[in-house]
Amino acid sequence: MNILKVAFLGMSIAIHSVNAQHSSIDIIPRPQKIMVGKGVFVMDGQTKIVASKESYGQAMALKQHLEKGIRGSMGIVGPDDKGDIKFELDEGLSEEAYTLRITKKEISIAASSSKGWFYGVESLKQLFPTDINFSMVRADAMELPVLEIDDAPQFRWRAFMLDEGRYFKGKRQVFKLLDEMARLKMNVFHWHLVDDQGWRIEIKKYPLLTEVGSKRPSTQVGPKKWKSKIQSGVPHEGFYTQEDLKEVVRYAEERNITIIPEIEMPGHSSAAIAAYPWLGTLGKEITVPIWFGVSEDVYNVADPKVYGFLTDVLDEVMDIFPSEVIHIGGDEAKYTHWEKSDYIKKYMEENNLESFADLQVDFTNKISQYLEGKGRRMMGWNEILGHNVHEYQSERDAGAEIELSKKAVVHFWKGDIALLSQAAEMGYDIVNSIHSETYLDYSYERIPLKKAYDFNPIPEGLDEKYSDQIQGVGCQMWGEWIPTSGYMDYMVFPRIAAYAEVGWTKPGNKNWEDFNRALKKMELSWKQKGIYFAPASEVGKE
Ligand code: ACM
Repeated sequence: MNILKVAFLGMSIAIHSVNAQHSSIDIIPRPQKIMVGKGVFVMDGQTKIVASKESYGQAMALKQHLEKGIRGSMGIVGPDDKGDIKFELDEGLSEEAYTLRITKKEISIAASSSKGWFYGVESLKQLFPTDINFSMVRADAMELPVLEIDDAPQFRWRAFMLDEGRYFKGKRQVFKLLDEMARLKMNVFHWHLVDDQGWRIEIKKYPLLTEVGSKRPSTQVGPKKWKSKIQSGVPHEGFYTQEDLKEVVRYAEERNITIIPEIEMPGHSSAAIAAYPWLGTLGKEITVPIWFGVSEDVYNVADPKVYGFLTDVLDEVMDIFPSEVIHIGGDEAKYTHWEKSDYIKKYMEENNLESFADLQVDFTNKISQYLEGKGRRMMGWNEILGHNVHEYQSERDAGAEIELSKKAVVHFWKGDIALLSQAAEMGYDIVNSIHSETYLDYSYERIPLKKAYDFNPIPEGLDEKYSDQIQGVGCQMWGEWIPTSGYMDYMVFPRIAAYAEVGWTKPGNKNWEDFNRALKKMELSWKQKGIYFAPASEVGKE
């Protein structure tokens, strides 16, 4: 980036030029097609934006952003007026697609919906110098290279998951993450709001869920992680009110991000059982766990009162979150308490359920039907298929006889390609979040930046005819070992940028060298925002 001082009508103006050669266009995720021409467009305080009623919101957002970095007041004019930056309708483009054209005379952003315009603006903003984007200087003008970008996402599901069951982070951190997701064109914020160690969502009908379930007196800590015998000795608590959550939903919507809430069932439910012991299979009083690892406490899914509780909770969840998909977890349910329960035994006999895996699928199908009846769709980790992917499960639970509802979205995290292929063959929609490639709690030794970047959600070996069933990718920030937001940042950034490109850019259009160059610019902006990303020296080997 150069800052040229130019004498203009006797005044000195600063022109920011993006790049002397304009040969490299640093946008993450990399657009599918970029053609760089000759010359520049000069934007200044007199630049006018042309927008229709439909694109007015995007035009306004761009104007407000620009006015922080460029002196002057940019007008927005109607679609029949003359202007310099034009929002245009192109009904031939898919929902999130856009084209961005910069000529010497004008800029045009064409899309078929506000989502496409939003992404066009995000790409345009990444062409601006960092110091204009961050209002560190207010320039009189800015040069942008003549170019054409044609862009559309490879996958419709580009997710980042935050686990706050383990540690509550709060709205400010969530807004920060949503801002970065939007910049990276990620469109699903998967919010893991419930786990053994904490219940973080206000449910008005069951106030103890947060009064009891959002608090614990201490937490397992230390470098040995799951093997650690060390406790913090410091209480931890926190939850979101329904008003907070609605505010976050609106904030996300403005950034083309859908929030998918996750309410774990039947396992990972100790915090709820601590609040209401009758929810648990053994009916025992327990406290919110202060150790990590998979708890043995599970809901008594055979009890109609427990089912009533879960549907009551889901009703309130659906009132807050308008997403079509509702995630019900379903992972790592241990069956030891079900084994000990006569109540469960009787239910299984009465309903001809052979194994506990069948019981889990039977229960999951009921929840799926409930959600479908409300116009929603259930998603769960791939244990909901009834496969045994854990060494702690018995042979008897190696495979359920009962078939999972075909409407369910399978969130694949554990198992081999054969298991994923089998789910695809059975017709399920799948989001690929295989742990070995996408878990952000794994160290940079285990998942270096390059490995994250090279991930392909359509696995090698999957029959091509099933490719369309792979909806996309999720990367997951599990929370056990990130007590502070600074440590969370270190694990998330820059790998989130790599996953964003995995989700957006077709494999043939990805370029590791270009990504690294663009990342340097993005890191400058993270620095400006106080995001404590892992430096290049620590993100692992190529
Ligand atoms: C998971 O990592 N338990 C989905």
